[in-house]
Amino acid sequence: MLSRASELAVDYLEGLPGRRVDAITGYAEVIDALGGPLPETGTDAGEVVERLARVCGPATIASAGPRYFGLVVGGALPAALAADWLVSTWDQTAYSRMSSPAGAAVDAVAERWVLAALSLPASAAVGFTTGATAGNAVGLLTARHALLSRQGWDVDADGLADAPRLRVLVGEEVHPSVLQVVRMIGFGSRKVERVPVDDQGAMRADALADVLDADPTPAIVCAQVGNVNTGACDPVGEIVAATHAHGGWVHVDGAFGLWARASARRSGLVAGVETADSWSTDAHKWLNVPYDCGLAIVSDPAATRAALGANTAYLPTVADREPGMLVPEMSRRARAVPVYAALASLGRVGVEALVDRCCDHARRLADAMRAEDGFRVRNDVVLNQVLLHADDDDTTWRVAELVRLSGEGWVAGTHWRGQAAVRVSFSNWSTTEDDVDRLVGALRDARERARRTPR
Ligand SMILES: Cc1ncc(COP(=O)(O)O)c(C=O)c1O
Repeated sequence: MLSRASELAVDYLEGLPGRRVDAITGYAEVIDALGGPLPETGTDAGEVVERLARVCGPATIASAGPRYFGLVVGGALPAALAADWLVSTWDQTAYSRMSSPAGAAVDAVAERWVLAALSLPASAAVGFTTGATAGNAVGLLTARHALLSRQGWDVDADGLADAPRLRVLVGEEVHPSVLQVVRMIGFGSRKVERVPVDDQGAMRADALADVLDADPTPAIVCAQVGNVNTGACDPVGEIVAATHAHGGWVHVDGAFGLWARASARRSGLVAGVETADSWSTDAHKWLNVPYDCGLAIVSDPAATRAALGANTAYLPTVADREPGMLVPEMSRRARAVPVYAALASLGRVGVEALVDRCCDHARRLADAMRAEDGFRVRNDVVLNQVLLHADDDDTTWRVAELVRLSGEGWVAGTHWRGQAAVRVSFSNWSTTEDDVDRLVGALRDARERARRTPR
């Protein structure tokens, strides 16, 4: 049955480059085919797997394939996918050396390699989380713990109700996942202070300095590298200098943009990022590791262990560095293994080439679209994101929809600075220049169709 599942998976992967990108069937078909009552008696396991492949395969969006340009998703590198299969097979509780020697060891090696790939301090700690939202939670929980304990407050024991005040500052273009974390950890979204941004959505360092000067209360400043629409990166070096001068903490949400650090050509955009206190990024986006895998990075490992670590007699920890002490989850799969596989199969040079290739695709698309009738490129294409506008807002929305319906590509619609935009993201390892050119044709055709058949 497992060999058959692998055959089915390989068939699916081989079909990805040629297939329609949008789903072929939909939600209702899957419910119809699978959604009867819980069976009283079991079904042959092989038949269950065949059924899942037959019913669900066509109802997937080909987001693992080369012509998916929606959200910022990434596919799965072959080595990372195969490693992920092994992780499921081993089914380890990768909490500690005792619960999984292999899980803990690969976690430690992948930590060093991640820090090297991202040019972050080698002494930092990396926790392997479900995603960048969980990474943001680790960063902000550690910041809260550290800033309060500097003021003599033990948040673990005494909670937040009477704690000294902390400020939480974000850019006006903060990602919703940061605000979600702010709510979850009890800061309150109404208390968040928003710092003005520039025309690309990057926090203005001069505005931050004013906001910090206005109130001496210690601040957690949430910077962002990689705006989901434009790809813009906050000036983190300046943000850190100003925040540290005020006794604060800088957390960087770099869900995809942090990978710009792997590229000599793009690292200028993220200069000074290494001076921050914590960072969150995803392996399941630009590193092309399968879901779900985020990276929660903290410059002071003791601070993150103090904020998050649980210790229990039945799951003893024998060393300072135990994977489960760096993340919120106790039972957890060996998420570092596919990260190790991705980094081992690419090498430093391969990671850099992956990042550069995606950014070059974005430039190629932007250059081509500037020459197309009716289209405008709305952002400075500095990374892997391109924002397009076609004629007017209605045509722009329809272009995104018609591209998806055509099956040629999958692009999202968004709003940028009060106007509709088609948002194109390049983050898949297997996308080629031909795929970019095919998207240009699909966008052109979609605009012509939208104009021929107004709603
Ligand atoms: C800038 C940014 N931050 C955070 C996130 C959340 O990441 P995840 O979905 O992996 O939790 C995303 C993307 O979804 C993002 O683009």
